[in-house]
Amino acid sequence: PSVTYIEHNGTEYRIEVEDGLSVMRGAVDNGVPGIDGDCGGECACATCHVYVDEAWLAKTGTPSEQEASMLSFAATAQPNSRLSCQIAMTAELDGLVVRMPEAQH
Ligand code: FES
Repeated sequence: PSVTYIEHNGTEYRIEVEDGLSVMRGAVDNGVPGIDGDCGGECACATCHVYVDEAWLAKTGTPSEQEASMLSFAATAQPNSRLSCQIAMTAELDGLVVRMPEAQH
């Protein structure tokens, strides 16, 4: 399945991310700027913060309690904020669009 990552400046990256890998891993392994993944996907750093495109919100689901608590510390959090290490790719999510917050570029 593919993910389109959109940088704050509008640059788009369409990346094939293996089934089961996280949206964060897909960005980090392919050098997409704006997603750092400092904690390695442990839901403990919030450097993988993204905004999920409105059209995809129903499919990506809702954050876990721990994720929501990490997001509450992010100054730029919005209702469609997620930690991209907590979104695992599936065939269902093929075509997913996420945007990176300004602070992370
Ligand atoms: Fe650290 Fe997602 S990689 S919270």
